[in-house]
Amino acid sequence: MEKRLRVVEIRSEMPAGRDVEAFVVPWFDDAPSTGEWWEEAAGQWLERRGDAGEAAAWVRLGATDTPDVFVARLSAGERPAAESCRRAAGAGVRAARERGLTSVGFRMPDGADAGMWQASAEGLELGDWRYDGLRETKGRTAPPETRLLHAAEAVSADARAAVRRGRILAEAQNATRELVTLPGNTVTPRYLAETAARLGREHGFSTRVRGRDELEADGFGALLAVSQGSVEEPCFIEMEHEGGGGAPYVVVGKGVTFDAGGISLKPASGMEDMKYDMAGAAAVLGILTAAARLELPERVIGLVPATENLPSGTAVKPGDVVRGLSGKSIEVINTDAEGRLILSDALTYAQRLEPAAIIDMATLTGACVIALGHHAVAVLTASDGLADELSAAGAVTGERTWPLPLWKEYRAQLDSDIADIKNIGGRGGGTITGGWFLREFVADDVRWAHLDIAGTAWSEKAHGWQPKGATGVGVRLVHEWLRACGSG
Ligand code: BES
Ligand code: ZN
Ligand code: ZN
Repeated sequence: MEKRLRVVEIRSEMPAGRDVEAFVVPWFDDAPSTGEWWEEAAGQWLERRGDAGEAAAWVRLGATDTPDVFVARLSAGERPAAESCRRAAGAGVRAARERGLTSVGFRMPDGADAGMWQASAEGLELGDWRYDGLRETKGRTAPPETRLLHAAEAVSADARAAVRRGRILAEAQNATRELVTLPGNTVTPRYLAETAARLGREHGFSTRVRGRDELEADGFGALLAVSQGSVEEPCFIEMEHEGGGGAPYVVVGKGVTFDAGGISLKPASGMEDMKYDMAGAAAVLGILTAAARLELPERVIGLVPATENLPSGTAVKPGDVVRGLSGKSIEVINTDAEGRLILSDALTYAQRLEPAAIIDMATLTGACVIALGHHAVAVLTASDGLADELSAAGAVTGERTWPLPLWKEYRAQLDSDIADIKNIGGRGGGTITGGWFLREFVADDVRWAHLDIAGTAWSEKAHGWQPKGATGVGVRLVHEWLRACGSG
């Protein structure tokens, strides 16, 4: 497929003639007039709309030598949050693409700080992304080739650096989205490993992949148990961005490339969605890619246990007791609670790396979707301040997080009659017992948080910078958190 040239260019003078086909303006109702040509059009629209809640619309000026204007209306309370810029830029570029336009400009709010520049660049990259690689050419729509960020003032070096950072992060997030979108017959554990190796070669991080033989020799018994119902070989992918060295920040991602539930088979309806059960893994690949491209000073290690979860005559059965890398015995009550099994091996391995902190990301529980819907990542942690750090990062990146408790009373739900722990905890508090299961494999003095992204890794509808489908959640969130760790 032909790769189009896609540019985010920065200009410090406003477009008057048709140097772009569409011009996106974030509009705050209480903003003072700047006297620019597009204000008349935006004002006409607002007069027609009054206070009625329409958030965005195309308006046209009479003159033919001016671009179409897309007004993205923001409530005054949102200013000057970076997320409002990201959302306006994303909605604008998405709308431009739907019109078949090939160039679009975004009017930066006056006095924008570096965070707003970064966010606007991210919005332009994220908003028009979609995957058309499996369609005939005629069914595809192309993204605008040129995206411009316009400011009425001189653009500082800080702003330019922020735009570059935003582009790199958004491109990494789009690569994550692509992996999550691709079907399970393409994205196998091997495909994830090959993709990690390719990204590592292209962007400069190292990879090491353990296949079945090595997993057996090293004792990754929980990962192997999940994989034993499938003919696809499981693997454990380790990626490293060295940075300036020191204790590594370890990111772990659930890489179940298809989750049929195993012997505890899922219902047929909606099962196709379970191709996205590797969204945590895909986010880890995106995080390493961006870490390398941005030459982050922190040392970052990515770990991905990868497998399918299928039923067959060789599959692990309910009631089986398995022993993983930690040495703990696990009674597998429900083979559909497989994510926590493979993560238990990965978390055990992560601690051998003497990490500064471990963040795991997983589409772990349907209960997370029940609890928080599609608007927040569930955070489970017993480490002081970590939930707040992640929440602060999410407020910057527009990926909201919300904590759930790991009180000790919940632990009893995982007591097994014959093993150290069982893999499900009954009906109540499913996301919490999932988190508690993982916590059992993490020493108390290790900084660790589990992010359940079951509700946020896939979006049923488009909004702001998010097209329908894979979201790529976690990539920018973890980077923003890392940045705060580095400066704090
Ligand atoms: N991959 C699923 C969780 C999931 C459900 C992710 C819906 C995204 C959307 C996970 O492996 C799973 O099946 N969990 C079970 C756990 C249960 C058996 C304790 C679940 O949530 O039903
Ligand atoms: Zn499952
Ligand atoms: Zn799963």
